[in-house]
Amino acid sequence: MSTEPLLEVQDLVKHYQSGGWLSGTRQTTYAVNGVSFSINAGETLALVGESGSGKTTVGRTILRLQEPTSGSARFLGTDLFDMPRSALRKLRRRMQIIFQDPYSTLDPRMTVGSSVAEGLEIHRIVPRADITSRVHALLEEVGLDPDDAKKYPHEFSGGQRQRIGIARALAVEPHFLVCDEPVSALDVSVQAQILNLLLDLQRDRGLTYLFIAHDLAVVRHIAHRTIVMYLGYIVEEGTTDLLLTTPRHPYTQALLSAVPDSEAAQVADRIILPGDPPSPSAIPHGCPFASRCFHPEKDQRCRSERPVLRTLGQSQVACHYATEEEA
Ligand SMILES: Nc1ncnc2c1ncn2[C@@H]1O[C@H](COP(=O)(O)OP(=O)(O)OP(=O)(O)O)[C@@H](O)[C@H]1O
Ligand SMILES: [Mg+2]
Repeated sequence: MSTEPLLEVQDLVKHYQSGGWLSGTRQTTYAVNGVSFSINAGETLALVGESGSGKTTVGRTILRLQEPTSGSARFLGTDLFDMPRSALRKLRRRMQIIFQDPYSTLDPRMTVGSSVAEGLEIHRIVPRADITSRVHALLEEVGLDPDDAKKYPHEFSGGQRQRIGIARALAVEPHFLVCDEPVSALDVSVQAQILNLLLDLQRDRGLTYLFIAHDLAVVRHIAHRTIVMYLGYIVEEGTTDLLLTTPRHPYTQALLSAVPDSEAAQVADRIILPGDPPSPSAIPHGCPFASRCFHPEKDQRCRSERPVLRTLGQSQVACHYATEEEA
């Protein structure tokens, strides 16, 4: 793993507008509210947080599958948000995404071989005569049989389909993969196989991952560092080991208490957060987490002043009252 950032994201903001002024239904969804991070080449950075916290939006705007509202993202020294779409096409090859449900992106009428070959053809990765052998090699690399190239997506299990999705992404020789909940829909035993495959591919190909997940259990064996998001804000960031052993933010503590056989789950009862997160269309003024926070010192300041990320030991934490002593 190098210490050179492959990707540097600064103050990423994405707000979605919906409805109309005339009908009086105009609404803004504050999906991502100033998120900054960098990922070194060969590293895995995890984004975790519950549904609606803005994880997918971060991944998709970085790849410019959605246009950012503001911010910058430098990839291999180029500003992705400043690039015309035509120039972006070339860079696309280096940045791929894999999804929770590869079935939705695999054309059911296309053989697996044709699906995997698509990127090879579009980006002219190998001469035409070599496409079949390259497809077979890719299928083998992800643990499938070269003969599977002739089959259709419905003939495979969920785990196998995820392998096909990975082969398709790898075909264009990316450096960077956004993995958007790639194992969330799979049985636990199959999850481990796919995570191991991703680890092997990272080792063999020097890949860099932005790995999106709901909970900390999934990322503990794969992510070097983890960012915890809540309502479009980063609430805590640190090495995954540190977050798993000494979470500083109350929200991270709650997430961790739900991880089976984690230290936190052993020492404390499971923290069940009251209520739902506020709507991302009406984010509170102060700390976004204040309405569900159980920190004993929670007070008026939490309701009125938004905490910024500050360094606490080896972590970054956005909480007015988090201290180093707490675990
Ligand atoms: N295309 C869109 N148009 C309008 N609002 C959107 C759009 N995509 C996402 N949102 C809203 O932005 C917020 C963040 O969504 P996002 O999908 O990024 O969250 P997430 O953390 O990936 O959630 P999940 O865990 O459910 O996948 C949500 O309130 C969502 O409804
Ligand atoms: Mg998502």
